Amino acid sequence: MAIKISNNSFYIETKNTSYQIKADKYGILKHVWYGEKTGCDMDYINEYPDVGFSGNIYDAGNDRTYSPDTLPQEYPAFGNGDYRICAVSAVHNDGSCSLDLRFKKYEIKQGKYSIPGLPAVYSGENAQTLEITLEDKKSGLEVILKYGVLPELDVITRSAVIRNNSESPVTIKNAASFCIDMPKDNYESIFFTGRHAMERTPQRQAILQGIQESSSVRGTSSHQQNPSFIICSPDCNEDNGRCFGAALMYSGSFSTRIELDHVGQLRAVCGINPELFSWQLNSGEEFYTPEAILAFSANGLAALSHIFHTVIRNNVCRGNYKLAQRPVLINNWEATYFDFNEEKLLKIAREAAKLGVDMFVLDDGWFGKRDSDFSGLGDWYANTNKLENGLSGLADKINALGMKFGLWFEPEMVSEDSDLYRSHPDWAIVIPGRKPIRGRYQLVLDMTRSDVRDYLFDTISSILKNANISYIKWDMNRSITECYSKAFPKEQQGEVMHRYILGVYDLYERLINEFPKILFESCSSGGGRFDPGMLYYAPQAWASDDSDAIERLKIQYGTSMVYPISSIGAHVSEIVNQQVFRNTPIETRANVAYFGAFGYELDLNELTELEKQKVKEQVEFIKQYRELIHKGKFYRLQSPFENNITAWMVVSDDKKEAIVGWYKVLNDVNESFKRIKLKGLNENLNYYIEQKGEYHYGDELMNLGMITSDYAVGDP
Ligand code: DGJ
Repeated sequence: MAIKISNNSFYIETKNTSYQIKADKYGILKHVWYGEKTGCDMDYINEYPDVGFSGNIYDAGNDRTYSPDTLPQEYPAFGNGDYRICAVSAVHNDGSCSLDLRFKKYEIKQGKYSIPGLPAVYSGENAQTLEITLEDKKSGLEVILKYGVLPELDVITRSAVIRNNSESPVTIKNAASFCIDMPKDNYESIFFTGRHAMERTPQRQAILQGIQESSSVRGTSSHQQNPSFIICSPDCNEDNGRCFGAALMYSGSFSTRIELDHVGQLRAVCGINPELFSWQLNSGEEFYTPEAILAFSANGLAALSHIFHTVIRNNVCRGNYKLAQRPVLINNWEATYFDFNEEKLLKIAREAAKLGVDMFVLDDGWFGKRDSDFSGLGDWYANTNKLENGLSGLADKINALGMKFGLWFEPEMVSEDSDLYRSHPDWAIVIPGRKPIRGRYQLVLDMTRSDVRDYLFDTISSILKNANISYIKWDMNRSITECYSKAFPKEQQGEVMHRYILGVYDLYERLINEFPKILFESCSSGGGRFDPGMLYYAPQAWASDDSDAIERLKIQYGTSMVYPISSIGAHVSEIVNQQVFRNTPIETRANVAYFGAFGYELDLNELTELEKQKVKEQVEFIKQYRELIHKGKFYRLQSPFENNITAWMVVSDDKKEAIVGWYKVLNDVNESFKRIKLKGLNENLNYYIEQKGEYHYGDELMNLGMITSDYAVGDP
């Protein structure tokens, strides 16, 4: 049994961890422990200090040592003597905003819970759900904390349901997915930060007294911050040290806040960003928070990544392509931008087919009056000036070449210069009487509205039914700023950001159910919505609009901390690179992109015959090894943020096969040879090193390392 209960203490166990909770003598739900597996009741580590200015609950009488302000808690509420960041706050009908949540009951269910309308981890061998209900007696508000326990995966998921059992409406101002309190210690945080075209840079810093935040108010999880984070010991590295990680399954505005409190304890609270959020909960209604995936490793960051990779790949991603081999694709965007016609596309496709590529993807510009990014979004019908035989005509010709056909959409957007906007200006998110903020010259459709979603579903479905389309790239190219919908009264405008993303999820769900054979790739100008929530609908995401191989080392390295390699869309693009104007050999570009969902994004006709031959070999290589790369264990060996050399590797589950990626950015003159220590191998196996024609035992390769510099020099 993964969940045991004794005297209102809850003991959750996974393969290598214990999680302990206790409803104490006052019925307050204390967090006791999350860490290494233990047979002890860890409650002894909690202190009860008498701290000035930390109030005491009334029930404690004159006991000044019992204060919510120093107590580790599972789901601390606002306005009840805990001055630290809280997980939940609500305004009652009388205007007061205090919540006194006490333990009411619990229930254990077989299997993992799901969440209506929201992505959630599913199944898992021997999965169980623990539900603990807390109640604010005065108002009748209940909070049901849900713990999904996936013992074999070493994962615990958390989410909460808020139920209004009172007669009057309540306004929820904050409803986190989880709170985790940690005992006094030294901690560091790792947030994944960045910007458009340089996403998910691990930013590690000490945690000092006060609050650190990683968040988004953009309506997307964003390029700038990511809804995943790690808290670790200062000595934690890839192979050693304690670390806790969380990945929020949410693609909208989120917030992670970490507070080191006045007595040295740490609290992390994560969920929907309370800024811009409020939710009117009427009598009898429930509100569901997004889910977070929690993991702990006592053996460093690589082990933590492996837990996330496995659960995201197997229990978050869904559909036919979750485990199927991903097609090697060629996308026309960087090759043509908006300037193409059928013949130009077919010319690229013909060359791609000759070289073994599986699928041709037609990107932006195929619809409406879309000759630039000023117009056309929303008009999802083929532009016959460019595609004289329409989409089905093009798809048939691509299919005749032996390739599948994929198509780009940006469903959530509308251009002011479009038929859709002219007929439905009210469908765009605009505050009446104010000029809208434009982003990439476009407006955002109000995805909270079912009529908007129905229009999109019908239009996209009819295209998918009328042409043989095997893949969709679902793009989203701006942030949302006006958090306003004409479909809701003023009291509910605080719900719009969250309802927007619920609307996106709803449309995704309808489309993937209707077209289960189609592979979806999500995109938000590259990695602006790269999160576990999106991966529930689309198993891969275009990682970044920066396709330069050297920049991608950083982007893919950072992304791999949480996200599986199979989810990272990675393409070989042309040189000179269009983002950073760098030249890299075609081998280097492929060697980086191999560690992702591999493809090309260039005009193959412009390559030399030698380069084309290399592309052919690359396609053969990735087809042979994509299974290993996507499903093997990924190890980061050397960081691009610290070294001229980046290295990583994948090892098959049976440890018989491995592929090492070793990248040197700048050449050194007259350098001595380099060695790279491999990881995850079987020390007693004698491995054949293909590029060197040599045999070495796993223990040699891991302890002494592999000599690299003699064959790792790129084209001059
Ligand atoms: C942004 C994407 O990241 C690109 O790959 C491309 O699809 C463009 N949008 C098209 O507008």
